[in-house]
Amino acid sequence: MTSQTLREARKYEETAEKTIKKEERPDFHLCARVGWMNDPNGFSYYNGKYHMFYQYYPYDSKWGPMHWGHAVSDDLLHWKYFPAALAPDECYDRDGCFSGSAVALPDGRHLLMYTGVIKERQKSGDFREIQTQCLAVGDGVDYEKYKQNPVLDEKDIPKGSSRFDFRDPRIWRKKDGTYACVVGSRAADGSGQILLYTSADGFRWNYKKALVENKGRFGSMWECPDFFELDGKWVLLTSPQDMLPQGFEYHNGNGTLCLIGEYDEETETFTEQHDQAVDYGIDFYAPQTVLTPDGRRVMIGWMQNWDTCNLRLPEEPWMGQMSLPRELSIKGKRLYQTPIRELEEIRCNKVEYHGISFSDTVCLEGVKGRCVDMELTIRPEKELYQKFAVRFAQDKKSYTSLSFRPRESVLKIDRKFSGSRRAIIHQRRSLVDSVDKKLKLRIILDRFSVEVFVNDGRQVMSATIYTDQTADGISFLVDGTANMDVVKYDL
Ligand code: FRU
Repeated sequence: MTSQTLREARKYEETAEKTIKKEERPDFHLCARVGWMNDPNGFSYYNGKYHMFYQYYPYDSKWGPMHWGHAVSDDLLHWKYFPAALAPDECYDRDGCFSGSAVALPDGRHLLMYTGVIKERQKSGDFREIQTQCLAVGDGVDYEKYKQNPVLDEKDIPKGSSRFDFRDPRIWRKKDGTYACVVGSRAADGSGQILLYTSADGFRWNYKKALVENKGRFGSMWECPDFFELDGKWVLLTSPQDMLPQGFEYHNGNGTLCLIGEYDEETETFTEQHDQAVDYGIDFYAPQTVLTPDGRRVMIGWMQNWDTCNLRLPEEPWMGQMSLPRELSIKGKRLYQTPIRELEEIRCNKVEYHGISFSDTVCLEGVKGRCVDMELTIRPEKELYQKFAVRFAQDKKSYTSLSFRPRESVLKIDRKFSGSRRAIIHQRRSLVDSVDKKLKLRIILDRFSVEVFVNDGRQVMSATIYTDQTADGISFLVDGTANMDVVKYDL
């Protein structure tokens, strides 16, 4: 039975979305159907389609009592909105259906696992959010909450861990047909940890252990974990709050951490071997992954940063978009990301230039646009140049830029002139590897965002931009002389 709260949300979104024109949304990135979107939820392949749910407040373009929005796709680039899937309508989730995940059950049903939130009055008179893990079962459109919710609560957390910070279950089906899930938690020392639970049927859950403990290394609470096998290793993704920068890593305060290591499935022991940031731009958080039918591990994140949400004006009808789907792999010790290969099928109008030698500023015939896939290879000529820059989303007043100083091997993204009316962070610098000072950039633009894949995906920098769509110029600048190849497509 659909509750009144959910029926109202469904009715509202159906009417309200009509006020948003197609060109006012990203072209191939998923954004809120209407109102507010944050984390990806329940990213899964079910009944021959990709399902993406998301943290959703339809009634305003700012965060509010969380619902789950829903969209479905065949190729992860063209999305069709489905009716909202969950609303905060039960005594155990009346203040929000927070993030969670999904899995296909062997009997053909779709199981969602999410965090139910209720505000509880404390002795001090303050209210705090109690978080528990809940289930809902459905057919890809309608979902019914499980009668025995919540299935994990404060009885199921280690002694001293917080009942206020226990959220974002990530469920998966193991090779033996049983289930496991990881949940973000905060240990007695205030530091994040990832708890592991197992279940024979997906409904009755048992606490196993703390799979990974932060012990004060990376920020405080660890949100939105994902845990999967990749290229013979295991990867834990989590989004810690309040991180301190370390060298060129973790500059975003709230950002996504990737731990790569070995996992002994028998003893459920994860041994960390490497850590890195997942995105070196400004806007990326809380990603989830899916395994495609042909065996690719694809990740989508919320292309936003909690600290820079006010870049978009509050009166806009939608706020929040997802990143491009990215194929993951491990090379050497590191996580690599490349745009999902389906993107190549929607590219058109190829324009290419090879071996252009230039000093100063150049614009190239046919190279402009705001929905663009552009690959650049920049190399020094005889002498090393000082600085290379590419500017895009450009007109007389605006541009977003990427600049590279080969001597320091530092790549900078700057969106100061990209529609912002706020004194928030607009720049990020990333230390990139460049063999023989050669730099490869693949720049994907989609109306309100830029994602830069550096050196075949060794690093990625993502940022949202709200420059007028008429600003579609692209130019190249060099201090010195450089040599460049440009291959550009419209998307
Ligand atoms: C992360 C997060 C999650 C939580 C959700 C609430 O961005 O804080 O931990 O479930 O957002 O909307």
